[in-house]
Amino acid sequence: MPHSIIEPFRIKAVEPIRLTTREERERHLEEAKLNVFRLHADDVLLDFLTDSGTGAMSAQQWAGIMSGDESYAGARSFFRFEAVVRDLTGYPFVIPTHQGRAAERILFAVATKPGDVVPSNTHFDTTRANLEHAGAEPLDLVVREGLEPRTRHPFKGNIDLGRVERLLEERGERVPFGMITVTNNSGGGQPVSLENLRAYRDLLRRHGKPLVIDACRFAENAMFVKLREPGQGHRTVKEIAQELFSLGDGCTMSAKKDGLANIGGFIALHDERWVEAARNLLVLTEGFPTYGGLAGRDLEAIATGLEEVLDESYLRYRLRTAEYMGEKLLAGGVAIVEPTGGHAVYLDARSFLPHLAREDYPAWALCNALYLEGGIRGVEIGSVMFGKRLEDGTETYHSLELVRLAFPRRVYTQSHFDYAAEVILELAARAREVRGVRIVKQSQYLRHFTAELRWA
Ligand code: F0G
Repeated sequence: MPHSIIEPFRIKAVEPIRLTTREERERHLEEAKLNVFRLHADDVLLDFLTDSGTGAMSAQQWAGIMSGDESYAGARSFFRFEAVVRDLTGYPFVIPTHQGRAAERILFAVATKPGDVVPSNTHFDTTRANLEHAGAEPLDLVVREGLEPRTRHPFKGNIDLGRVERLLEERGERVPFGMITVTNNSGGGQPVSLENLRAYRDLLRRHGKPLVIDACRFAENAMFVKLREPGQGHRTVKEIAQELFSLGDGCTMSAKKDGLANIGGFIALHDERWVEAARNLLVLTEGFPTYGGLAGRDLEAIATGLEEVLDESYLRYRLRTAEYMGEKLLAGGVAIVEPTGGHAVYLDARSFLPHLAREDYPAWALCNALYLEGGIRGVEIGSVMFGKRLEDGTETYHSLELVRLAFPRRVYTQSHFDYAAEVILELAARAREVRGVRIVKQSQYLRHFTAELRWA
């Protein structure tokens, strides 16, 4: 019996990708002010910047694109979308948004007030920024193992319940709700166990606080639960996902990940408390409640994507992809976040580039080097993304310096990953040549997207 886990699809439409020369890449990166977000995507060979909105849609989803109902109000496509989200989450109130951060902005605008504190395992950067924008304080309380790249633990995305309890005792009146990100993207795409989620829910409930799930990668998380959590192996991923949602009071979702769509998101809520206010804001900035910033065809694509993503042969292949890359890199002595997460491999830049100081932004430097070496685009999850320049000109730094290579869903094949591993291993052999960077120009929010840098 062959044991290879193959791509469980065949390819019907292809897009060319182009290998550039090193000289061309040097020029492109200079023109991009040493910020890979500013590159033209055509000048990238393998684009591992994000798994968000970059996936390939299925024939079924493309068929949905053609049958989308573009009525302004009450479109058939909305009701299909709503039914799929309700079936999956069990939440009756479904509010479509154009992507995840719009869901965050709207929910936080109606459910938090200035001075509030919102705990999570790790808030993603847009979640953090949207909370701060609403005047609230995002608090990251992931378990200790989640901050140690080399420590192996099956559920490194779990939240530290002791620290949540202390927060609730000391500043409970400031906590409007708790959040949890599944999988924990900023901490390495690591899953949260049902057991941890249940205990977190119980703790919040004892203090009268709801739980909001940032559900972007719920299916990958559910597959990890199936594979790793005692007593879960016999259940379907859909059952596990449904239980996961049942432990929350609502969710924000970016359908660009496990919705298998190129755009879209939603808020879904268990009870009416925030619904009316959220819909009022929705109408103001996103659109009418039955389309919320999306076309009818997008709603169709998401509805189908949310069903397809629960296919276990897909999820097995999906998790295997990151694991396969991880095995190759570890075999070559490259430090990564272990075990590999669901959607990405995270390189530990401090260990890759020990000659660089934190002022050199090692993870940013490694991103640049990967592009120069092989046309690969990753993303820094480090101090440019999460650090800050304070008013007195001093910098705060992030506890981890990681480069995330996030894998678009159903897009690249095994030989693409073989090539990427070769590039990284070749770069590792000459790591000392990699130079640090300095920030020249930055914006107030989410500075990594637009910052301009120079070589140190
Ligand atoms: N929450 C998490 C955990 C995310 O990973 C993202 C997006 C969002 C919320 C926001 O969703 O992009 O649809 O507005 N993550 C992307 C990434 C951008 O590259 O990880 P969005």
